[in-house]
Amino acid sequence: MEHGEKVKMADSQGTPTLFSPYKMGKFNLSHRVVLAPMTRCRALNGIPRPALAEYYTQRSTPGGFLITEGTLISDTGAGFPHVPGIYNEEQVEAWKMIVDAVHAKGGIIFCQLWHVGRASHTVYQPGGVAPISSTNKPISKRWRILMPDGSYGIYPKPRPLETSEIQEVVEHYRKAALNAIRAGFDGIEIHGAHGYLIDQFLKDGINDRTDEYGGSLANRCKFLMQIVQAVASAIGIDRVAVRMSPAIDHLDATDSNPLNLGLAVIERLNKLQLQLGSKLAYLHVTQPRYHAYGQTESGKQGNEDEEAYLMRALKQTYQGTFMCSGGFNRELGMQAVAEGDADLVSYGRLFISNPDLVLRLKVNAPLNRYIRKTFYTHDPVVGYTDYPFLIEEKGRQVQSRL
Ligand SMILES: Cc1cc2nc3c(=O)[nH]c(=O)nc-3n(C[C@H](O)[C@H](O)[C@H](O)COP(=O)(O)O)c2cc1C
Repeated sequence: MEHGEKVKMADSQGTPTLFSPYKMGKFNLSHRVVLAPMTRCRALNGIPRPALAEYYTQRSTPGGFLITEGTLISDTGAGFPHVPGIYNEEQVEAWKMIVDAVHAKGGIIFCQLWHVGRASHTVYQPGGVAPISSTNKPISKRWRILMPDGSYGIYPKPRPLETSEIQEVVEHYRKAALNAIRAGFDGIEIHGAHGYLIDQFLKDGINDRTDEYGGSLANRCKFLMQIVQAVASAIGIDRVAVRMSPAIDHLDATDSNPLNLGLAVIERLNKLQLQLGSKLAYLHVTQPRYHAYGQTESGKQGNEDEEAYLMRALKQTYQGTFMCSGGFNRELGMQAVAEGDADLVSYGRLFISNPDLVLRLKVNAPLNRYIRKTFYTHDPVVGYTDYPFLIEEKGRQVQSRL
């Protein structure tokens, strides 16, 4: 492990740190600092480009774990410009180069499978039709959608999926997972969080269906669970992960009882793991303090007691690897791992601005600040791969521009 001698792998009581190795099912991770999935809008016209290889390899470490940006399972899944897909051959071929480059650096990489559902616009839909969802209620005007020309628009009214159409969407997830494995990915993460399609089924603040996919908790969990089962039977449950955010209201995704919802999903995942005799790769949960992109800066606490209770209840109930995300800095990440609140911690914004975040956290070096205005721009370099690395020279740390 690079610079391993500079950090303690565990403290004197044997308590794990962010830099202790971790066995995540069949994957041997050399540390617990994970690249969080982040949409960066650099895959021009849906095709991953060489710029993505540069971005992901910059953030790779031997034995380090990375999750890609949300990657579309079908041509109806987009709600941002220039988001990559994994539903056609050109995309699968293009991803190979990126995955190979990450593997060459010893990294382990999962592809995050995404469908935005109603968080879309007719401009992103084939034939300019309404986006699909669990409901016909649009996202409120409190939220704005990023349009292809860089302006912000209003979310249109979605079309609720017919009951008979749902299996087709499940099938898109299954095929996308198979495509991801063909592209060389080590596994996939199902994006069930942040107000996108799956969350639109999970949350009672959105899902107003009267069929077998709405109403009771069991019915609202059904869409997610059918996807997990379909994907697990295609590529093996140990290559599948689930992301959820029961307590996050992003894009109006509210639920009357977030804890119960989280526990209901976990209960079903635990049961499936028992049935299949093997575990998911991990469960990834977004901290309540990450209420909405932009409202909470990294390192700031939310309502500490409330979120500690919710996250601990979820962690204690889930029988497998638990990954946390949302507002972590070095100190909070160290604390979460040491106190057993997380096995792995995913870092988002700090990883955007610090390609060598793992090293910086290890040696407790200063961090570059992230520049929000280039999060979703399309330049293959600016705000993407041009954040400076910390270069170590003979024990002296200097910062240098690339
Ligand atoms: C620019 C940007 C894009 C994001 N895109 C995604 C995404 O595609 N999928 C996802 O699950 N989360 C996405 N997120 C949420 C992050 O994965 C992460 O949970 C969030 O940034 C909170 O972590 P942080 O405080 O370390 O940044 C995104 C966040 C940012 C800042």
